[in-house]
Amino acid sequence: MTSTALNLGGRPTGAFAPASLGPVSVRNRFIRAGTGESMADRRGRIGPDYLRLHEDLARGGVGLAFTGHLFVHPRGRYGELQAGLHTDDAIDDFRAVTDAVHRHGGRIFAQIAHAGSQSMVRDNEPLAPSAVDNVMTGRRVRAARTDEIDEVVAAFGQAARRAVEAGFDGVHLHGANGYLISQFRSPLTNARDDEWGGTQEERDRLPLAVIRAIRAQLPADRALTMKVGVADLVDEEGGLSVDAAVAGVQSFAAAGLDGVEVSSNLMSDYVSASIRPYIAVSRVRAFTDLLLHRLHRSAEPEAYFLDFADRVRARVDTKIILVGGVRRLGTVNRLIDSGRADFVSMARPFIREPDLVNRFASGRQTTPACVSCNICLMHDEHHPLTCWRVPRVNLLRHARYRFGGGFGSKGSGRKPSAAEL
Ligand SMILES: Cc1cc2nc3c(=O)[nH]c(=O)nc-3n(C[C@H](O)[C@H](O)[C@H](O)COP(=O)(O)O)c2cc1C
Ligand code: SF4
Repeated sequence: MTSTALNLGGRPTGAFAPASLGPVSVRNRFIRAGTGESMADRRGRIGPDYLRLHEDLARGGVGLAFTGHLFVHPRGRYGELQAGLHTDDAIDDFRAVTDAVHRHGGRIFAQIAHAGSQSMVRDNEPLAPSAVDNVMTGRRVRAARTDEIDEVVAAFGQAARRAVEAGFDGVHLHGANGYLISQFRSPLTNARDDEWGGTQEERDRLPLAVIRAIRAQLPADRALTMKVGVADLVDEEGGLSVDAAVAGVQSFAAAGLDGVEVSSNLMSDYVSASIRPYIAVSRVRAFTDLLLHRLHRSAEPEAYFLDFADRVRARVDTKIILVGGVRRLGTVNRLIDSGRADFVSMARPFIREPDLVNRFASGRQTTPACVSCNICLMHDEHHPLTCWRVPRVNLLRHARYRFGGGFGSKGSGRKPSAAEL
């Protein structure tokens, strides 16, 4: 028996109903959220393990995959193991990936990004709107010159061209989670008084210019979506508010977006702001997955960006992609059937179970095995993407690396101190 709900005409409904993002049709509502693969070499080039990962996701039933963030310019590289779409040499490598995904009936968008002052690459001069130390990395920066900003806009356009040539079905612009676009949008990090700063409209000018540069490269059969920060989640007062952010999203959508994935803008750390732990983990799950410290705690709530999504839905006419702690099949069906989301995107569950969609469809499973423990996040940019709880021996490898000082003094791969940079 299958758990895929069917309507009277025998067509799938809810999570399994096909839908489209602009010109791109998707076989179901499940998107693999952008998840840094950490599989590139020093030049940012990918290899067979990257291809295998994406082929497994498509074979496993994912409707659409966003790649992990791909840097568009060497100065925008986030980490040493990050892949890039910054040179034409990358096109053939990615062509093999998109071909493999298409063979299994999946779709794939290139998530393109510039890390700005959040870059962790040591010998990289990071770029930023203003001379404000990065809240997460503590990295010192100077204000970008206007010719450097023009170069960034052009780099996004060129990366989009390469994405098209590589056979991607669309481009997913990274405009959230503290990276360069978030930095330009926030009053806390953009104190410019030229055309790139001043009012909120001017602070939104960089993403608008980038959207236009990307659109100019996309033929009619490719889509453009954006992960967009809907509020600054930092302690400091005076950051980007939801109202101001949503007004910006209206103008981005009008400039040519086919969908919006809603997330946080500036963040003081990844875990509390956008990659929250222990979502929907019952006590029984905690026990079976050796999470002894969770035995007496109740499950953390699912879909933690739903309020942000509702705020965007109320004012912006675009497809809503809901990310952030979406877990159980019943939740996905409710979100889709109620119209609060058009698609859901999940990151951590697909790391542990690339075939999760097929498991859901077969009725074998309704809750992902992933317990959102975030060990995979700690290893981001340290080791290739994998679930560190399976097989169990991985937990030992993790412990050896962690207690051997592999993450440095901070103990986490995602928040290095200035001294480590
Ligand atoms: C290991 C790891 C790497 C990530 N890399 C990216 C990335 O490259 N681009 C991005 O937009 N988000 C990235 N994220 C965030 C996810 O896209 C997602 O927003 C977040 O994990 C919440 O979704 P989830 O609860 O389904 O995991 C990453 C998350 C994890 C755990
Ligand atoms: S290490 Fe495994 S269980 Fe933990 S969050 Fe990552 S994918 Fe989920």
